[in-house]
Parts: sequence; C-alpha cells; structure tokens
Amino acid sequence: MTIQLRTQDLSKRYEERVLFHIPHLQIGPSNAIYLKGQNGVGKTTLLKILAGLTTPSTGTINGIEISTFYRLFSRKLFKDVVYLHQSPYMFDASLLDNIRYALPFSSKRGVHGRSQAINALRMVGLESLADEHCSVLSGGEKQRLAMARAWIVNPSILLMDEPSASLDLESTQGIITLAKDLLDRGASIVITSHQQNGLTNLCDTQWTIENQGLTVTPHLRVIDEDTKNLKSITNNKLGNDT
Ligand SMILES: Nc1ncnc2c1ncn2[C@@H]1O[C@H](COP(=O)(O)OP(=O)(O)OP(=O)(O)O)[C@@H](O)[C@H]1O
Ligand SMILES: [Mg+2]
Repeated sequence: MTIQLRTQDLSKRYEERVLFHIPHLQIGPSNAIYLKGQNGVGKTTLLKILAGLTTPSTGTINGIEISTFYRLFSRKLFKDVVYLHQSPYMFDASLLDNIRYALPFSSKRGVHGRSQAINALRMVGLESLADEHCSVLSGGEKQRLAMARAWIVNPSILLMDEPSASLDLESTQGIITLAKDLLDRGASIVITSHQQNGLTNLCDTQWTIENQGLTVTPHLRVIDEDTKNLKSITNNKLGNDT
C-alpha cells in the first residue's frame, strides 16, 4: 500500500522553461495539504507527477530513479494514489455504473457492489439520480460524482485539483464529508484551490509554488467568534523548510 510519497530533486521543464525544482517533498501518512500558487505555476503538473500521470524532468519518487524503466514501476508506485481532475472524465453510462466501474472486478456486479455504489452516491446527494445517464449532470454534480468514485476506492493519497471550483456551498459540504472520512481513515489529501473554503480548512499544511520552488508552511486556522466559522490564516509564513 502506498501511504507515503517521498520525492528528491523533482523538477519539471518544458523545453527551456523550468516550471519548478523541488529538492525534497513528502506526502503522508495522514497529511492534509493545501497547494497554492498563481495560475500557471505548475500545481496541476505537480499533482499529475505525484499521481504518476506525468513524468518529471528529473527526480526520484520513493527512491526510484526516473529512467527508461520508470513506467514498469509506476503502477505499483502509484497504487492507491488517486488524482481527481478538475473536469472529471465520465464513462458513457449511468451514475451507478460510473461508480461501479471503480470497484474491484469481484464486487462490480454483485448486490454488495450495488449497495456500496448507492451509498457513495448518497454521500454526495446524488442517490435519486442513480439510474440516470451521467450526461444529465451539471458541472458541479459531475464533480460530486467524481469525488464519490474516488472515495469508493479508498485511496491512501487523494490529489484534488480545484475540486470546489464549480460547487455551491451545499455541494462542497458533500465533498468535505468524504474528504474528512478519508482523513479519519489515515489517508492523505492534497487540495488545490484559488479560494479558501471548508475544504481547504481541513488542511494543516500549506505548499506554495512560487519562484520555481515550493515553500512548506503550516496552514493555520482560527475560529471567528462572531460567525463560528473556521477561517484560515495563510499569510503566516513560519518557515522556509522544503
Ligand atoms: N505539454 C506542455 N507543453 C508545454 N507547456 C505546458 C505543457 N503542459 C503544461 N504546460 C505549461 O505549464 C504551466 C503550468 O501548468 P499547470 O496546469 O500545472 O498550472 P497550474 O498551476 O495548475 O495553473 P492553474 O492555477 O491555472 O490551474 C502552464 O504555463 C502550462 O502552459
Ligand atoms: Mg491547475
């Protein structure tokens, strides 16, 4: 089980343009990380590298050198790591089947698989649409379906790329519930978001990509006594440790 990813000298370059170079980085076990940075600094690229979907220009991940044989290791290395895309891909099928496709082969068809999938849909408020084709869904509903599909595979590391960009408060709440559940089970999550909300308030660590590097700081939260809402303080940089 991949419960931790440790990288060394991770960099990504497109021709002459260096996106970032990160000497050390670690996720897990049980981390909740808010990944910040301006448009185009490389947040999506970093998440895709950590999910094994994009190859870095240099670096090792869990001690494995990037080499010709990298692809041979990548399946095992990134087992249990799930990347949640901002515009999730849907299978040409019902909501229920979209969830069931994510289940192990043995549980896809049986009654147990169905009840697991229904339960996942219930968690994000889409149970009543279980047998509808996924093309009927709005952007925010597709995002919720994708989160339910990610949650049901019980990943050790969930990488969420702007998961709340098109969500209203209630929809965000469904995603928060599932993210919290994964954290309670010892998983790690990384969230990119341009806005702070209940989801980013789950995070205790902040990664900021700037000047082609990555800064790690605590992500502090305070309770606003008037509203009782958690608010984040993100401008307290308490260190420069990478
Ligand atoms: N295949 C590619 N070839 C060349 N440049 C690329 C390629 N893929 C991504 N880039 C560039 O890398 C940069 C980082 O992209 P990325 O999507 O990781 O940024 P981001 O931090 O996620 O931005 P946003 O906040 O807008 O989502 C962008 O300038 C993008 O154009
Ligand atoms: Mg992005």
